[in-house]
Amino acid sequence: MDAVSLNAAAGTQVPAASLRNAWVKFGQFTAIQDISLEIEAGAFYSILGPSGCGKSTLLRLVSDLIPPAAGEVSVFGKTTEAARLAREFAFVFQDATLLPWRSALKNVELPLEIGRSRGIDIPVSDKSPMELLELVGLKGREHALPHELSGGMRQRVAIARALVCKPKLLLMDEPFGALDEMTRDHLNLQLLKVWEETGVTILFVTHSIPEAVFLGQKVLMLKAHPGRLHEIVDIDLPYPRSIAQRDTPEFTRYSAHLRGLLEAC
Ligand SMILES: Nc1ncnc2c1ncn2[C@@H]1O[C@H](COP(=O)(O)OP(=O)(O)OP(=O)(O)O)[C@@H](O)[C@H]1O
Ligand SMILES: [Mg+2]
Repeated sequence: MDAVSLNAAAGTQVPAASLRNAWVKFGQFTAIQDISLEIEAGAFYSILGPSGCGKSTLLRLVSDLIPPAAGEVSVFGKTTEAARLAREFAFVFQDATLLPWRSALKNVELPLEIGRSRGIDIPVSDKSPMELLELVGLKGREHALPHELSGGMRQRVAIARALVCKPKLLLMDEPFGALDEMTRDHLNLQLLKVWEETGVTILFVTHSIPEAVFLGQKVLMLKAHPGRLHEIVDIDLPYPRSIAQRDTPEFTRYSAHLRGLLEAC
């Protein structure tokens, strides 16, 4: 089943992530205030909001990097810790953080090697590391070292690496933020292809309104001081999406609505 139909069936499934009255505090400072939210399995959510509103904190909360100060967070019905140990999610950051002495292929294979060396029985993608590199458009560059690749190519290696343990949830924190617009467009299309082919659920943080609208089935808008949920906007544009859709009145309408929300933050 592809991701779009997976989403249609989501009502019958355990949510990919569920937050119930979740709070995050750093000392006296409230970074996230009382967020309740369900992310359907197979969905693509973009996350927007002003700097400091808690976007990265929200991903870190879901991925068991920080505990809630109050409330509950679960991932596919498990605690975030159990989901982390079962490799149910993977992270992609703005910086690809590849090991410079290992080829693209060897970087993608790394999580599998680590799992094996620790004797952990980890899930493995149906696609081989080679096929995952092909899926992200890097066929022929498998043996290149990171310094021989462009920034966009390095991000694609990071995405292939994130997929190698067959995560059901991909947490992406401004993964294309440092790239030029053309490269970003290209990677947006490639990411939608990955989503449709794998059925993975995606939470995608961005500062770009067009990118959020172009990718997401929904856009989660957060507010700052303290970080909290502002609005969830359904993006009712058909998939597969194309760059040309950005010139449609519907797309412009969504962008304008989100810009208005951001300005009101
Ligand atoms: N480890 C920490 N200790 C103290 N405060 C923190 C910590 N991590 C985040 N914060 C604070 O929590 C708030 C939310 O931070 P977060 O990084 O989630 O924002 P963001 O929405 O991702 O911002 P940006 O768009 O700039 O990446 C900020 O005010 C930040 O200073
Ligand atoms: Mg951030």
